[in-house]
Amino acid sequence: MKHLMKTRRTIIAGNWKMFKTVNEAEALVKGLLLELPDVSSIDVVLCPPFTALSRVADLVSNTSIRVGAQDMHWEKEGAFTGEISATMLRDVYCRYVILGHSERRQLFGETNESVNRKAKAALSASLRPIVCVGETLDEREKKDFRAIITRQVKESLAGIPAEQAEEIVVAYEPVWAIGTGRNATPAQAQEVHALIRTSLVALFGDKYAGNMRIQYGGSVKPNNAAELLGQPDIDGALVGGASLEARAFTAIIKAGL
Ligand code: PGA
Repeated sequence: MKHLMKTRRTIIAGNWKMFKTVNEAEALVKGLLLELPDVSSIDVVLCPPFTALSRVADLVSNTSIRVGAQDMHWEKEGAFTGEISATMLRDVYCRYVILGHSERRQLFGETNESVNRKAKAALSASLRPIVCVGETLDEREKKDFRAIITRQVKESLAGIPAEQAEEIVVAYEPVWAIGTGRNATPAQAQEVHALIRTSLVALFGDKYAGNMRIQYGGSVKPNNAAELLGQPDIDGALVGGASLEARAFTAIIKAGL
């Protein structure tokens, strides 16, 4: 489906989470390369686990598909056992990095402040951050979830120069929709995307905020992708479960072409 009104380039990313050994990753990428049509009119990004980055980057090196990591540390190097730096990710041909995914926020203590440090470090290393925000079910039902999302955006992106803003992708992922099969309706998602765009305008000004991509994530599937991607402020999708299967991910990418 062509979205003639949109000037922003669609970005569809697959977040593989802690799935796929190197050999499994290779099989998935080979399957994708067989299924996919020419996708050079949009940005397609694969985010395998760290251990498979190098092999996946190698397999897609002659295509327009790009590779991203799922997290990183903000320091360049040092005594930080278990961590990976932006430079190391660039070294294995990463172009993107997911930051502040709700699983990292909920299970591993990620905060807006740490996401902010990581986003700045990523940009300094020419990695494009995909900065995730989103409310929990409890926050949607009991609290002012709009204020929570606005705060996540403002704090996660504080102090970043406006000239760098277009390199940043924001992903709106309502936590209640992740891995649950329960996606936000296109109208619910569009409402929050418009709210996020307003926060981005406040941070970076109209010109830059207007060019920033905002992805939706949370149970994006072949049967709901086109409608979600058809919303005026939804510029792409961050896909978990359905990105682990070549046919399903291909169908979602095709909905964005
Ligand atoms: P899901 O995950 O598509 O499996 O809901 C999305 C995400 O966590 O990025």
